[in-house]
Amino acid sequence: MSHASEPRPMTARRRGALTGVANVPGDKSISHRALILGALSVGETHITGLLEGQDVLDTAKAMAAFGADVQRIGDGEWRVHGVGVGGFAEPADVIDCGNSGTSVRLIMGAMATTPITATFTGDASLSKRPMARITDPLSEFGAQIAAREGGRLPVTIGGATDPVPLRYKTPVASAQIKSAILLAGLNAPGETVVIESEPTRDHSERMLAGFGATIRTEQTEEGHVITLTGRPELRGQPVAVPRDPSSAAFPVAAALIVPGSEIRVPGVSRNPTRDGLYVTLKEMGADIGFENQREEGGEPVADLVVRHSPLSGVDVPADRAASMIDEFPILSVVAAFAQGKTVMNGVAELRVKESDRIDAMARGLEANGVTIEETRDSMTVHGMAKVPGGAEAATHLDHRIAMAFMVLGLASEAPVSVDDGSPIETSFPDFISLMQGLGADLG
Ligand code: S3P
Repeated sequence: MSHASEPRPMTARRRGALTGVANVPGDKSISHRALILGALSVGETHITGLLEGQDVLDTAKAMAAFGADVQRIGDGEWRVHGVGVGGFAEPADVIDCGNSGTSVRLIMGAMATTPITATFTGDASLSKRPMARITDPLSEFGAQIAAREGGRLPVTIGGATDPVPLRYKTPVASAQIKSAILLAGLNAPGETVVIESEPTRDHSERMLAGFGATIRTEQTEEGHVITLTGRPELRGQPVAVPRDPSSAAFPVAAALIVPGSEIRVPGVSRNPTRDGLYVTLKEMGADIGFENQREEGGEPVADLVVRHSPLSGVDVPADRAASMIDEFPILSVVAAFAQGKTVMNGVAELRVKESDRIDAMARGLEANGVTIEETRDSMTVHGMAKVPGGAEAATHLDHRIAMAFMVLGLASEAPVSVDDGSPIETSFPDFISLMQGLGADLG
């Protein structure tokens, strides 16, 4: 279901240095995939470190609606007994994916090659987001699609009775499109091939291989090519979810811009397809150490040690955008405190996230005294020695916009407010208490 319907205004103020340990939640992308692949497997999938944010809870509920046995057995500890590839049952009710694009897009893919019918809805934000990018390739597998004008939710999918495998070049670099096609390809005979121009997050590929699918990735002249062999028997697995680098980005950014800060963020995924923000921050001069580098649950992981740093603006190349697509709101806040300008290129996709993130950041930063220029697919933030703050930003049902402006207020001259912090529940339910634990004044 959707998050709390009452808007929750929040304010952040400057106080002393941030210090301590920030145990950020489990990775959102991996959490969704663990539940979905668990539901499509035979036997038990035991998940630890699952993100219990509303988006992932919506996926858990959907997997139960399609017939899997999904049990919460402790804090972040879940058990899924799946129905096997092609075994989804027809849900009795509409599948409400709340605010979660990953839920609706991956689950539409997962059911589209099974002969059942399901209808998907979401909240006001999700209902504005483009779904044709998913339903177009799913119809090529043989699924019947009915969508609202412009390919928006609600969408009803009649799964293909006789699915054919697909070879598909994605029109935009998107892990959600890639993953929806791969999940649909599981129940199609033969090889399903996805070709992407830039590599996007590869959690689906890693986890599919871990659950027993035959999947390979090659870089060819055509692009980044992923080939999946259909109709595998997926077997349930233990999944240890690493901590989310996209959630870690908020306390990391706060420590970089609040003078005197030093924090540690343990066990964060360092998957190279998610690492763009950290590469960029290092280029800006950030003092970030990566300690105890290790592998956990098939993902590279490290403990981050972050100290307040003088920063300089940089040019972020367009070919890095996919590896930090969710981090541009918080990077634009960090950039406001850097010397010189930071240019973010090739970021048109930000306009179709939980909100139009270019517009939301531009309006909120301007209101707080920061100069920012936007084009259709770029943002330029002019850094300043002292960021005035003092204004309220609109979050437009977008968790990352809410958290970005809370971080801005921790280092600006005057407090910063948001009209509604309730969407933070979707990805980082303990954000406020975690930041307060580091010494921040917000709530
Ligand atoms: C996600 C992929 C990204 C990202 C989203 C999570 C995923 O979307 O913005 O928060 O888990 O696959 P796109 O793949 O559409 O860029």
